[in-house]
Amino acid sequence: MSSMMPDVQEVLISSEEIESKVSEIGARVSEDYRGERPLLVGILRGAVVVMSDLMRNIDLPCEIDFMDISSYGTGTSSSGVVRILKDLEEDITGRHVLIVEDIIDTGLTLSYLLRSLLARKPASLEICALLSKPSRRRVELDVKYLGFEVPDEFVVGYGLDYAGAYRNLPDICVLKPEVFSGDEG
Ligand code: IMP
Ligand code: MG
Repeated sequence: MSSMMPDVQEVLISSEEIESKVSEIGARVSEDYRGERPLLVGILRGAVVVMSDLMRNIDLPCEIDFMDISSYGTGTSSSGVVRILKDLEEDITGRHVLIVEDIIDTGLTLSYLLRSLLARKPASLEICALLSKPSRRRVELDVKYLGFEVPDEFVVGYGLDYAGAYRNLPDICVLKPEVFSGDEG
């Protein structure tokens, strides 16, 4: 039992459920990219955990790279401002690129990222997101591989943070309201 559990109100998705979903997605990716050498692009820092599990469920020669973009401060609401803090190391021209993201909320971050990556002329560009909050979406996004839909609640764990913490919780959890007290977002 994690010492962070006293801050947790509810476990939304257990590590076992996540594990089986990620292995299912890995099998689909392996099938869809058969004969190719896809480049998985993880969005720092939240996607690190799902990236690590997903890549080990892909039975293909694949490569990984990371980008860091910012659309959030330390609070829980979108600022609408998107900046590239760390760009890819790899040239993606002609590559089959699969973006790996922890959660799609408004979709603003990914829609910006898609436009920016498409301009580099990849052979293909698809999205894999562990979580999605459909009720919060502000732009249309075609998510090829989706783990779970979650309600409009701020979730942490399995890579997702609140103010930098809780990423190392193995389950996807909702925090107690008192944990957020003092947050302006
Ligand atoms: P979007 O641009 O609104 O789709 O924001 C997506 C980004 O916001 C994600 O990559 C997360 O970093 C962050 N985010 C959105 N919702 C949550 C949440 O419930 N918990 C933790 N991070 C979140
Ligand atoms: Mg993120």
